[in-house]
Amino acid sequence: ESTSTVKHFLRDDDLSPAQQAEVLALAAELKKAPTTRQPLAGPRGVGVIFEKNSTRTRFSFEMGIAQLGGHAVVVDGRNTQLGREETLQDTGRVLSRYVDAVVWRTFGQDRLEQMAEGATVPIVNALSDEFHPCQVLADLQTLAERKGELKGLRLTYLGDGANNMAHSLLLGGVTAGIHVTVAAPAGFAPAEWVLDAARARAAETGASVTVTDDPQAAAVGADALVTDAWTSMGQENDGLDRVGPFRPFQINAALLAKAAPGAVVLHCLPAHRGDEITDEVIDGPQSAVWDEAENRLHAQKALLVWLLEQNGRTAQGDGT
Ligand code: CP
Ligand code: NVA
Repeated sequence: ESTSTVKHFLRDDDLSPAQQAEVLALAAELKKAPTTRQPLAGPRGVGVIFEKNSTRTRFSFEMGIAQLGGHAVVVDGRNTQLGREETLQDTGRVLSRYVDAVVWRTFGQDRLEQMAEGATVPIVNALSDEFHPCQVLADLQTLAERKGELKGLRLTYLGDGANNMAHSLLLGGVTAGIHVTVAAPAGFAPAEWVLDAARARAAETGASVTVTDDPQAAAVGADALVTDAWTSMGQENDGLDRVGPFRPFQINAALLAKAAPGAVVLHCLPAHRGDEITDEVIDGPQSAVWDEAENRLHAQKALLVWLLEQNGRTAQGDGT
Protein backbone atom coordinates (compact mmCIF):
# COMPACT_ATOMS: atom_id res chain seq x y z
CA GLU A 1 0.00 0.00 0.00
CA SER A 2 1.87 3.04 -1.22
CA THR A 3 0.22 6.35 -0.46
CA SER A 4 2.88 8.49 -2.06
CA THR A 5 1.03 9.00 -5.34
CA VAL A 6 -2.42 9.77 -3.94
CA LYS A 7 -3.68 13.21 -4.93
CA HIS A 8 -5.57 14.87 -2.08
CA PHE A 9 -7.35 18.24 -1.76
CA LEU A 10 -6.42 19.49 1.69
CA ARG A 11 -5.76 23.13 0.77
CA ASP A 12 -6.41 25.34 -2.22
CA ASP A 13 -2.87 25.23 -3.59
CA ASP A 14 -2.98 21.45 -3.81
CA LEU A 15 -4.38 22.26 -7.26
CA SER A 16 -1.96 23.93 -9.68
CA PRO A 17 -3.35 26.86 -11.67
CA ALA A 18 -3.97 24.56 -14.64
CA GLN A 19 -5.61 21.89 -12.47
CA GLN A 20 -7.87 24.45 -10.79
CA ALA A 21 -8.92 25.72 -14.22
CA GLU A 22 -9.76 22.14 -15.30
CA VAL A 23 -11.93 21.60 -12.23
CA LEU A 24 -13.73 24.91 -12.73
CA ALA A 25 -14.38 24.14 -16.40
CA LEU A 26 -15.82 20.77 -15.43
CA ALA A 27 -17.96 22.44 -12.76
CA ALA A 28 -19.51 24.70 -15.40
CA GLU A 29 -20.13 21.66 -17.61
CA LEU A 30 -21.77 19.67 -14.80
CA LYS A 31 -23.98 22.62 -13.91
CA LYS A 32 -25.51 22.35 -17.39
CA ALA A 33 -25.58 18.54 -17.50
CA PRO A 34 -25.70 17.26 -13.89
CA THR A 35 -25.76 13.49 -14.42
CA THR A 36 -23.48 13.05 -17.42
CA ARG A 37 -20.56 11.83 -15.34
CA GLN A 38 -20.99 8.64 -13.32
CA PRO A 39 -17.55 7.73 -11.96
CA LEU A 40 -19.11 6.37 -8.78
CA ALA A 41 -21.60 4.04 -10.53
CA GLY A 42 -21.81 0.67 -8.86
CA PRO A 43 -22.35 2.26 -6.45
CA ARG A 44 -18.95 3.24 -5.18
CA GLY A 45 -18.86 5.10 -1.92
CA VAL A 46 -17.60 8.38 -0.54
CA GLY A 47 -17.25 8.89 3.21
CA VAL A 48 -18.44 12.30 4.36
CA ILE A 49 -17.53 13.02 7.97
CA PHE A 50 -18.50 16.04 10.04
CA GLU A 51 -16.87 17.10 13.30
CA LYS A 52 -18.50 20.54 13.07
CA ASN A 53 -21.99 21.65 12.08
CA SER A 54 -22.96 22.03 8.42
CA THR A 55 -25.92 22.74 6.18
CA ARG A 56 -24.54 23.45 2.69
CA THR A 57 -21.58 21.10 2.76
CA ARG A 58 -23.71 18.23 4.01
CA PHE A 59 -26.48 18.65 1.44
CA SER A 60 -24.24 19.47 -1.51
CA PHE A 61 -21.86 16.56 -1.03
CA GLU A 62 -24.61 14.02 -0.37
CA MET A 63 -26.63 15.09 -3.42
CA GLY A 64 -23.54 15.50 -5.57
CA ILE A 65 -22.29 12.01 -4.80
CA ALA A 66 -25.73 10.60 -5.68
CA GLN A 67 -25.65 12.47 -9.00
CA LEU A 68 -22.25 10.91 -9.74
CA GLY A 69 -23.86 7.48 -9.35
CA GLY A 70 -22.38 6.81 -5.93
CA HIS A 71 -23.37 6.41 -2.32
CA ALA A 72 -22.45 8.86 0.42
CA VAL A 73 -21.75 7.44 3.87
CA VAL A 74 -22.46 10.57 5.90
CA VAL A 75 -21.45 10.36 9.53
CA ASP A 76 -21.11 12.61 12.53
CA GLY A 77 -17.46 12.27 13.51
CA ARG A 78 -18.45 12.46 17.15
CA ASN A 79 -20.15 9.06 16.81
CA THR A 80 -17.10 7.34 15.26
CA GLN A 81 -13.85 6.10 16.74
CA LEU A 82 -12.16 9.23 15.32
CA GLY A 83 -10.52 11.16 18.07
CA ARG A 84 -10.78 8.26 20.49
CA GLU A 85 -8.02 5.70 20.59
CA GLU A 86 -7.49 4.96 16.91
CA THR A 87 -4.87 6.98 15.04
CA LEU A 88 -6.01 9.09 12.11
CA GLN A 89 -3.51 7.28 9.88
CA ASP A 90 -5.13 3.95 10.75
CA THR A 91 -8.58 5.41 10.16
CA GLY A 92 -7.53 6.62 6.70
CA ARG A 93 -6.11 3.22 5.91
CA VAL A 94 -9.31 1.43 6.93
CA LEU A 95 -11.74 3.86 5.24
CA SER A 96 -9.78 3.39 2.00
CA ARG A 97 -10.96 -0.24 1.98
CA TYR A 98 -14.62 0.86 1.89
CA VAL A 99 -14.86 4.08 -0.06
CA ASP A 100 -13.22 5.79 -3.03
CA ALA A 101 -12.77 9.17 -1.35
CA VAL A 102 -13.15 10.71 2.10
CA VAL A 103 -14.58 14.18 2.62
CA TRP A 104 -13.92 15.51 6.10
CA ARG A 105 -14.86 18.63 8.07
CA THR A 106 -12.63 18.88 11.10
CA PHE A 107 -10.55 21.15 13.32
CA GLY A 108 -6.76 21.34 12.80
CA GLN A 109 -5.29 20.93 9.33
CA ASP A 110 -2.80 18.46 10.85
CA ARG A 111 -5.69 16.03 11.35
CA LEU A 112 -6.40 15.99 7.61
CA GLU A 113 -2.70 15.52 6.90
CA GLN A 114 -2.53 12.58 9.28
CA MET A 115 -5.50 10.85 7.71
CA ALA A 116 -4.01 11.48 4.26
CA GLU A 117 -0.80 9.76 5.38
CA GLY A 118 -2.65 6.51 5.91
CA ALA A 119 -5.22 6.78 3.12
CA THR A 120 -4.91 5.23 -0.33
CA VAL A 121 -7.92 7.23 -1.60
CA PRO A 122 -8.19 11.02 -1.93
CA ILE A 123 -8.98 13.05 1.19
CA VAL A 124 -10.98 16.23 0.67
CA ASN A 125 -11.00 19.10 3.17
CA ALA A 126 -14.63 20.06 3.77
CA LEU A 127 -13.47 22.87 6.12
CA SER A 128 -10.73 22.94 8.70
CA ASP A 129 -9.69 25.66 11.11
CA GLU A 130 -7.13 26.78 8.52
CA PHE A 131 -8.83 26.33 5.11
CA HIS A 132 -12.17 25.93 3.31
CA PRO A 133 -11.02 25.06 -0.21
CA CYS A 134 -14.27 23.50 -1.50
CA GLN A 135 -16.02 26.77 -0.72
CA VAL A 136 -13.47 28.76 -2.67
CA LEU A 137 -13.92 26.55 -5.75
CA ALA A 138 -17.61 27.48 -5.62
CA ASP A 139 -16.70 31.14 -5.10
CA LEU A 140 -14.44 31.08 -8.16
CA GLN A 141 -17.12 29.39 -10.24
CA THR A 142 -19.58 32.11 -9.19
CA LEU A 143 -17.14 34.90 -10.00
CA ALA A 144 -16.41 33.36 -13.40
CA GLU A 145 -20.15 33.24 -14.13
CA ARG A 146 -20.55 36.93 -13.29
CA LYS A 147 -17.26 38.36 -14.50
CA GLY A 148 -15.88 35.98 -17.13
CA GLU A 149 -12.10 35.82 -16.95
CA LEU A 150 -10.83 35.39 -13.38
CA LYS A 151 -7.26 36.41 -14.06
CA GLY A 152 -6.67 40.04 -13.17
CA LEU A 153 -9.84 40.50 -11.09
CA ARG A 154 -9.52 42.35 -7.79
CA LEU A 155 -11.10 40.61 -4.80
CA THR A 156 -11.29 42.12 -1.33
CA TYR A 157 -12.11 40.01 1.70
CA LEU A 158 -13.15 41.88 4.85
CA GLY A 159 -13.35 40.45 8.36
CA ASP A 160 -11.35 37.81 10.21
CA GLY A 161 -8.22 37.65 8.10
CA ALA A 162 -6.90 34.68 10.06
CA ASN A 163 -9.82 32.34 9.45
CA ASN A 164 -10.31 29.48 7.00
CA MET A 165 -12.11 31.58 4.36
CA ALA A 166 -9.51 34.35 4.34
CA HIS A 167 -6.74 31.78 4.01
CA SER A 168 -8.48 29.84 1.26
CA LEU A 169 -9.42 32.96 -0.69
CA LEU A 170 -5.76 33.96 -0.58
CA LEU A 171 -4.44 30.62 -1.84
CA GLY A 172 -7.28 29.79 -4.21
CA GLY A 173 -7.67 33.35 -5.43
CA VAL A 174 -4.06 33.89 -6.44
CA THR A 175 -4.02 30.41 -8.02
CA ALA A 176 -6.70 31.78 -10.37
CA GLY A 177 -4.62 34.91 -10.99
CA ILE A 178 -6.83 37.15 -8.83
CA HIS A 179 -5.35 40.09 -6.91
CA VAL A 180 -6.46 39.34 -3.34
CA THR A 181 -6.68 41.96 -0.60
CA VAL A 182 -7.48 41.00 2.98
CA ALA A 183 -8.77 43.79 5.21
CA ALA A 184 -8.82 42.79 8.86
CA PRO A 185 -8.62 44.49 12.25
CA ALA A 186 -5.28 44.51 14.08
CA GLY A 187 -4.56 41.07 15.51
CA PHE A 188 -6.66 39.29 12.87
CA ALA A 189 -4.27 39.32 9.90
CA PRO A 190 -3.72 36.12 7.91
CA ALA A 191 -1.10 33.67 9.17
CA GLU A 192 2.38 34.47 7.84
CA TRP A 193 2.88 30.94 6.51
CA VAL A 194 -0.29 31.25 4.45
CA LEU A 195 0.78 34.65 3.13
CA ASP A 196 4.15 33.16 2.14
CA ALA A 197 2.43 30.34 0.25
CA ALA A 198 0.01 32.78 -1.39
CA ARG A 199 2.84 35.11 -2.49
CA ALA A 200 4.77 32.17 -3.93
CA ARG A 201 1.75 31.07 -5.95
CA ALA A 202 0.95 34.68 -6.94
CA ALA A 203 4.44 35.00 -8.41
CA GLU A 204 3.57 32.13 -10.77
CA THR A 205 0.22 33.53 -11.89
CA GLY A 206 0.85 37.28 -12.01
CA ALA A 207 -1.48 37.87 -9.07
CA SER A 208 -0.77 39.82 -5.88
CA VAL A 209 -1.48 39.74 -2.16
CA THR A 210 -2.28 42.76 0.00
CA VAL A 211 -3.05 42.91 3.72
CA THR A 212 -4.46 46.04 5.32
CA ASP A 213 -6.46 47.23 8.33
CA ASP A 214 -8.23 49.91 6.27
CA PRO A 215 -11.57 48.54 5.01
CA GLN A 216 -12.50 51.68 3.07
CA ALA A 217 -9.29 51.78 1.05
CA ALA A 218 -9.49 48.01 0.50
CA ALA A 219 -12.97 48.28 -1.02
CA VAL A 220 -12.06 50.95 -3.58
CA GLY A 221 -12.24 49.57 -7.11
CA ALA A 222 -12.73 45.94 -6.05
CA ASP A 223 -14.52 43.58 -8.48
CA ALA A 224 -15.66 41.40 -5.58
CA LEU A 225 -16.27 42.06 -1.90
CA VAL A 226 -16.31 38.97 0.28
CA THR A 227 -16.94 38.44 3.96
CA ASP A 228 -17.56 35.68 6.48
CA ALA A 229 -18.57 35.20 10.09
CA TRP A 230 -16.51 37.14 12.62
CA THR A 231 -16.59 34.10 14.91
CA SER A 232 -15.86 30.78 13.27
CA MET A 233 -16.91 27.40 14.60
CA GLY A 234 -14.68 26.52 17.53
CA GLN A 235 -13.82 30.17 18.33
CA GLU A 236 -16.91 30.92 20.41
CA ASN A 237 -14.98 31.02 23.68
CA ASP A 238 -11.53 32.17 22.58
CA GLY A 239 -11.68 35.25 24.78
CA LEU A 240 -11.19 37.70 21.88
CA ASP A 241 -13.51 40.61 21.14
CA ARG A 242 -14.91 39.45 17.82
CA VAL A 243 -17.47 42.23 17.46
CA GLY A 244 -16.20 45.71 18.32
CA PRO A 245 -13.02 45.76 16.21
CA PHE A 246 -14.89 44.19 13.29
CA ARG A 247 -17.73 46.72 12.95
CA PRO A 248 -15.87 48.96 10.44
CA PHE A 249 -15.36 45.89 8.22
CA GLN A 250 -19.09 45.29 7.64
CA ILE A 251 -20.16 45.09 3.99
CA ASN A 252 -22.92 47.68 3.78
CA ALA A 253 -24.24 49.90 1.00
CA ALA A 254 -21.72 52.66 1.71
CA LEU A 255 -18.77 50.29 1.50
CA LEU A 256 -20.14 48.57 -1.60
CA ALA A 257 -20.47 51.97 -3.28
CA LYS A 258 -16.68 52.29 -3.13
CA ALA A 259 -16.16 49.07 -5.08
CA ALA A 260 -16.03 48.89 -8.88
CA PRO A 261 -19.37 49.37 -10.67
CA GLY A 262 -21.09 45.99 -10.85
CA ALA A 263 -18.92 44.50 -8.12
CA VAL A 264 -20.11 41.11 -6.88
CA VAL A 265 -20.72 40.34 -3.20
CA LEU A 266 -19.94 36.87 -1.88
CA HIS A 267 -20.47 35.23 1.52
CA CYS A 268 -20.00 31.50 2.11
CA LEU A 269 -22.94 31.52 4.56
CA PRO A 270 -24.29 31.18 7.18
CA ALA A 271 -24.62 34.97 7.30
CA HIS A 272 -24.99 36.99 10.47
CA ARG A 273 -27.18 39.72 9.08
CA GLY A 274 -26.44 43.10 10.61
CA ASP A 275 -22.93 42.05 11.65
CA GLU A 276 -20.56 41.25 8.77
CA ILE A 277 -23.16 42.08 6.09
CA THR A 278 -26.36 44.13 5.96
CA ASP A 279 -29.76 42.88 4.74
CA GLU A 280 -29.67 45.54 2.05
CA VAL A 281 -26.46 44.15 0.56
CA ILE A 282 -27.04 40.42 0.92
CA ASP A 283 -30.56 40.75 -0.53
CA GLY A 284 -29.50 43.35 -3.08
CA PRO A 285 -28.76 43.12 -6.81
CA GLN A 286 -24.99 42.74 -6.43
CA SER A 287 -25.24 39.76 -4.08
CA ALA A 288 -24.28 36.43 -5.67
CA VAL A 289 -24.50 34.45 -2.45
CA TRP A 290 -27.37 32.15 -3.47
CA ASP A 291 -25.66 31.12 -6.71
CA GLU A 292 -22.49 30.75 -4.66
CA ALA A 293 -24.28 28.32 -2.34
CA GLU A 294 -25.67 26.38 -5.31
CA ASN A 295 -22.25 26.18 -6.90
CA ARG A 296 -20.94 24.16 -3.96
CA LEU A 297 -22.82 21.26 -5.56
CA HIS A 298 -21.34 21.69 -9.03
CA ALA A 299 -17.80 22.56 -7.94
CA GLN A 300 -17.54 19.64 -5.53
CA LYS A 301 -18.86 17.17 -8.09
CA ALA A 302 -16.23 18.41 -10.51
CA LEU A 303 -13.55 18.11 -7.85
CA LEU A 304 -14.56 14.53 -7.04
CA VAL A 305 -14.65 13.53 -10.73
CA TRP A 306 -11.21 15.07 -11.22
CA LEU A 307 -9.70 13.49 -8.09
CA LEU A 308 -11.12 10.04 -8.92
CA GLU A 309 -9.61 10.30 -12.39
CA GLN A 310 -6.25 11.47 -11.05
CA ASN A 311 -6.19 8.56 -8.67
CA GLY A 312 -7.31 6.01 -11.24
CA ARG A 313 -10.54 5.31 -9.39
CA THR A 314 -13.49 5.34 -11.75
CA ALA A 315 -16.25 2.89 -12.54
CA GLN A 316 -14.29 1.91 -15.65
CA GLY A 317 -11.12 0.90 -13.87
CA ASP A 318 -10.13 1.20 -10.24
CA GLY A 319 -6.39 1.30 -10.76
CA THR A 320 -5.77 -1.79 -8.69
N1 CP B 1 -20.50 27.55 3.65
C1 CP B 1 -20.55 26.38 4.30
O1 CP B 1 -19.58 25.59 4.33
O2 CP B 1 -21.75 26.13 4.89
P1 CP B 1 -22.09 24.97 5.93
O3 CP B 1 -21.29 25.23 7.18
O4 CP B 1 -23.56 25.08 6.15
O5 CP B 1 -21.70 23.65 5.33
N1 NVA C 1 -15.37 30.64 8.91
C1 NVA C 1 -16.60 29.90 9.12
C2 NVA C 1 -17.09 29.29 7.85
C3 NVA C 1 -18.37 28.52 7.97
C4 NVA C 1 -18.78 27.86 6.68
C5 NVA C 1 -16.37 28.83 10.18
O1 NVA C 1 -15.31 28.17 10.14
O2 NVA C 1 -17.22 28.65 11.04
